[in-house]
Amino acid sequence: MFEISGLTHEYQAQTVLAVEKWQAGQGEQWLVLGKSGSGKSTLLHILAGLLKPSKGKVKIKDTFIESLKSSDLDSFRAQNIGIVFQKPHLIQTLTVLENLLLVPYLARKGNKQQIISILESLNMAHKQKSYPNQLSQGELQRISIARAIIHNPVLLLADEPTASLDDENAHNAIGLLQNKAQEIGATLLIATHDQRVKNSFSHTYIL
Ligand SMILES: Nc1ncnc2c1ncn2[C@@H]1O[C@H](COP(=O)(O)OP(=O)(O)O)[C@@H](O)[C@H]1O
Ligand SMILES: [Mg+2]
Repeated sequence: MFEISGLTHEYQAQTVLAVEKWQAGQGEQWLVLGKSGSGKSTLLHILAGLLKPSKGKVKIKDTFIESLKSSDLDSFRAQNIGIVFQKPHLIQTLTVLENLLLVPYLARKGNKQQIISILESLNMAHKQKSYPNQLSQGELQRISIARAIIHNPVLLLADEPTASLDDENAHNAIGLLQNKAQEIGATLLIATHDQRVKNSFSHTYIL
């Protein structure tokens, strides 16, 4: 599903990430562990095509993403990749539903009916007309998980998705990501330094 080779990234003349070889198959669930500053966010940004590595190749499905021109990379990302950040980054002046409707607009995949059924499966359908500032941290993170899966991405990336959550919500968020990734057949990669993440993962990568 994705394949990395000879990857390095430098920042201010320091190598902040080096991955010689890494292959992940379709539907695999990876926990990426590493302390703060070990390069987790750098790796996820590179896999999402948001950051160009200093060296190396990244193949997602059958596409070497470094070979795409910028506008093609944007549509490749919109179609194939789902991202959950530590903070939800919702637009405060739009309702939950309006925020989520941006995904089918950008990805040209998914529709309102699918959004409602995802919200129902997350027990959040009753909050579709709420504004982000009316939701709790756990609810916001569920909405950002919903946003990441509406377009059935092949690769679901989550960068420290539990960092702003209490124990119960942290556990639930990881479980939800795992269940949803399995439902849509996506490869899942969760980066964390959170010692509380003890759910079982088929694979672990330590940075
Ligand atoms: N744009 C940037 N701004 C500041 N620091 C950066 C930047 N890019 C890389 N770094 C440095 O790269 C290293 C890895 O950072 P990061 O990928 O954020 O690690 P992690 O997510 O594991 O905490 C850090 O030492 C960080 O200071
Ligand atoms: Mg980080």
